[in-house]
Amino acid sequence: MHLLKMSNSRIFQICGIMASVFMILLIIFYWDDVGTAHFHLHTTISKIQVTHLPLMTNLNHNQLNSKKAVEERKPSSEPDIIQDDLDFMLVESTKGYLQEGDSPEMEETFNAVSEPNPEKLPGFDLGINSAQTKTELERIQNERKQNIKDVCADSSIMFSGKNRNFEDIPNKELDHLIVDDQHGIIYCYVPKVACTNWKRIMILLSGSILKQGTAYRDPLEIPRDLVHNSTSHFTFNKFWKRYGKFSKHLMKIKLKKYTKFLFVRDPFVRLISAFRSKFEIKNEDFYNRFAIPMLQLYANCSDPPSTVNEAFSAGIKPSFVNFIQYLLDPHTEKNMPFNEHWRQVYRLCHPCQINYDFIGKLESLDEDANYLLKLLNVEKLVQFPQSLRNRTVKSWEHDWFSKIPVAWRKQLYELYMPDFVIFGYPKPTNLLLD
Ligand SMILES: *[C@@H]1O[C@H](CO)[C@@H](O)[C@H](O)[C@H]1NC(C)=O
Ligand SMILES: *[C@@H]1O[C@H](CO)[C@@H](O)[C@H](O)[C@H]1NC(C)=O
Ligand SMILES: *[C@@H]1O[C@H](CO)[C@@H](O)[C@H](O)[C@H]1NC(C)=O
Repeated sequence: MHLLKMSNSRIFQICGIMASVFMILLIIFYWDDVGTAHFHLHTTISKIQVTHLPLMTNLNHNQLNSKKAVEERKPSSEPDIIQDDLDFMLVESTKGYLQEGDSPEMEETFNAVSEPNPEKLPGFDLGINSAQTKTELERIQNERKQNIKDVCADSSIMFSGKNRNFEDIPNKELDHLIVDDQHGIIYCYVPKVACTNWKRIMILLSGSILKQGTAYRDPLEIPRDLVHNSTSHFTFNKFWKRYGKFSKHLMKIKLKKYTKFLFVRDPFVRLISAFRSKFEIKNEDFYNRFAIPMLQLYANCSDPPSTVNEAFSAGIKPSFVNFIQYLLDPHTEKNMPFNEHWRQVYRLCHPCQINYDFIGKLESLDEDANYLLKLLNVEKLVQFPQSLRNRTVKSWEHDWFSKIPVAWRKQLYELYMPDFVIFGYPKPTNLLLD
């Protein structure tokens, strides 16, 4: 009798568990539906509840409560979350891309490349690069995408995180993916690869920051400090606070539907550029966090000046050799991953997990930018700003690396090899010969 009772309650338990599993699956499919039909969770959940009423009729009270818990998931009251949510409201304001039209036509328009029209597109198909026709640029994109696919599928090329699933990427590693729900765009920003201007374009398009209540019209009007303040951007790592356990699911829906792009450049040239901008120009923050330890560890300078001004006046700066030593030192990443300015692109943007639609290169920035804006269907809204700065170029590489021992160059190549091969940059063999 006692035994029978036990097994009865056991059966009830199992039934309970199975009902919960069923409920979870139901919610997941239901949210897929939400994702397809309406992206505006804050505003449209209640509507959906009405329109999907037949689905809900057989649910018991507990199940309704769990549904409600999802619905009422609100950001907690920590100040930074309020700030986040403000951004969120701005980002997901009035006319969402998916809400406005999830029709096939819309997607087609979105993916289509309209015929080049030089009159509508000043700078496109004009000037020195007139040979770069639409088909040529399309062919180049297909090549870059195919190369990524091939490298990711090639088991002889290994690097950390290569074979994990998107679900297994920790949230904090998704902080470089900026989402614009208005136009259905995801941009993975790579510092030292025109990211200031692309971030400006993302702010302008998404309206995540407004100037006296209206969206910015000119990207260059957006102040630099706002551009690089993380609160200005709605990034994937912020999903968790808002959507909790559904965040990965929503990310996957957005990754499937939105146009994803990134810009890359030659990895060694990027390192030179990072060094020039962070250590050859006064930067208090980088001086304190990186230059002081480099001076102490690699420049035999046990007591470096405490401010960047004093250091520059005394002519004390880490050399490019010290910087490379820092990158190669196995202790460097013990406490913290590489700073984003020199972290490998494959670690910032996860090209084997995210199927990018467009891979731009800094080496062909102007053509790629114009083509991309057309592809995104926003070429009438925004123009890519012309860069007037003295850009680091490949031809300087030989001079910059002249003081780096060849053995170190080889180690450095190994460290950045995935970026070279994934993005189709040739191995710099002339630097690597003994
Ligand atoms: C970023 O912006 C927020 C809100 O506008 C501000 O409180 C914060 O101080 C800014 N951070 C930096 C580093 O400027
Ligand atoms: C490092 O500096 C100390 C004095 O500050 C000097 O005695 C020593 O020889 C230096 N070592 C190297 C390798 O330069
Ligand atoms: C750009 O910078 C390099 C090295 O920093 C310098 O040699 C060159 O003259 C600069 N060019 C211009 C146009 O400023």
